[in-house]
Amino acid sequence: MTPSDVKATLSFSDGSPSMDLPIYKGTIGPDVIDIRKLYGQTGKFTYDPGFLSTASCNSTITYIDGDKGELLYRGYPIEQLAVNCDYLDTCYLLLYGELPNTEQRGTFHSRVINHTMVNEQMQFFLRGFRRDAHPMAVLTGLVGALSAFYHDSTDINNPEHREIAAIRLIAKMPTLVAMAYKYTVGQPYIYPKNDLSYAGNFMRMMFATPCEEYKVNPVIERALDRIFILHADHEQNASTSTVRLCGSSGTNPFAAIAAGVACLWGPSHGGANEACLNMLGDIQKMGGVAKVGEFMSQVKDKNSGVKLMGFGHRVYKNYDPRAKLMRETCHEVLGELGLHNDPLFKLAMELEKIALEDDYFVARKLYPNVDFYSGIVQRAIGIPVSLFTAIFALARTVGWIAQLNEMIADPEYKIGRPRQLFVGAEKRDVKPLAER
Ligand code: SDX
Repeated sequence: MTPSDVKATLSFSDGSPSMDLPIYKGTIGPDVIDIRKLYGQTGKFTYDPGFLSTASCNSTITYIDGDKGELLYRGYPIEQLAVNCDYLDTCYLLLYGELPNTEQRGTFHSRVINHTMVNEQMQFFLRGFRRDAHPMAVLTGLVGALSAFYHDSTDINNPEHREIAAIRLIAKMPTLVAMAYKYTVGQPYIYPKNDLSYAGNFMRMMFATPCEEYKVNPVIERALDRIFILHADHEQNASTSTVRLCGSSGTNPFAAIAAGVACLWGPSHGGANEACLNMLGDIQKMGGVAKVGEFMSQVKDKNSGVKLMGFGHRVYKNYDPRAKLMRETCHEVLGELGLHNDPLFKLAMELEKIALEDDYFVARKLYPNVDFYSGIVQRAIGIPVSLFTAIFALARTVGWIAQLNEMIADPEYKIGRPRQLFVGAEKRDVKPLAER
């Protein structure tokens, strides 16, 4: 953080003493006004529910420019990473700050691949769930339960323990997601196979059965790997902020990541891809493209509570760069699978076209986000709709861990403890029951 020559001066119309607030500049993006001394000097808090104007930390990991529709992981544009790297290269970059060289890449890949199994006891944990439980309910439980197997060797303040916990979580998430899926379909779990790629291993654990050899389709494998890259990290979004706040108490990383999984589940966040596909299915049932106008009228009617899922973003007021890459991946996968006439994909493109020309959306700068096309491509791959957010959580785990480790490694970090504007009852006495 570089102190700016410019200061902010806070003055009060009632003659209370004014206060100079330092301003800091980052390498790119908006400056920040440092209010850390505000309460101590003025007895007043700032007020920012939803954190629309609040920077919660300084970070070197991911940068988003919402106006340009730009996303950088450690300075590298997502468009270049999606084409030139694979997901484990991206994990290495997010965790350690640089892309790996050949030797580093080989070592990291083999470390991850050699931690893909989970303790055999985990399958008995799964048995406690109903077979029709939502995979995100199961995954929240499974990730938290990992701390029952490793908590004794994972001191969040020990850098070596943080390192092995990161490898374990990245390695085991695909195994856990696949187990959650197999449990719901009543099929036996498939153990990881260490001679496959990260995405190929996940596909086999998801779709193979003990009855026959499973052949990984390289086009699908590459598409899935790209989906993981696109979802890997995204600055201080709701689930990442949850992981930071949870981890700031010093809890173990498995518990903090489980909190992130729980937050991501919400339909306004990672649950939007599942909600988006369900929305496309509903419009299809209404009559498809012919009914898009009617659906859009509902969206514009505030009282309807209907939103165009997969559209809009707190930061992107331009096209989400991930949505563009996801749409390309959609084309590739549907083409490979002979589904280029997929009605939902055609419907999604028609919805996008209409929305981008409609004043309601233009005025509010609502563009497709990462969730708009991701559901269509996952459905084409054979991933059930209810598992979409679990795939998002799988991919985002590395981002959550990188952000958590960055916070813990900062000697200045403190437990997060926001305050409030209290608008409730003033102090009053309890009346005897007979008088209430
Ligand atoms: C993700 O933060 C991240 O980085 C998240 C994420 C990540 O990688 O971690 O990018 C992943 O969560 C993507 C977002 C997925 N969610 C959805 O697709 C759900 C639909 N989108 C909306 O719920 C909404 O756009 C949010 C939650 C994403 C953003 O909400 P904001 O920033 O609080 O904006 P808002 O709700 O105040 O909307 C501003 C206006 C409002 O209208 P007015 O009151 O000004 O008239 O836009 C409208 C909203 O009603 N609006 C929408 C809309 N999104 C916003 N109207 C219709 N459909 C939508 N999708």
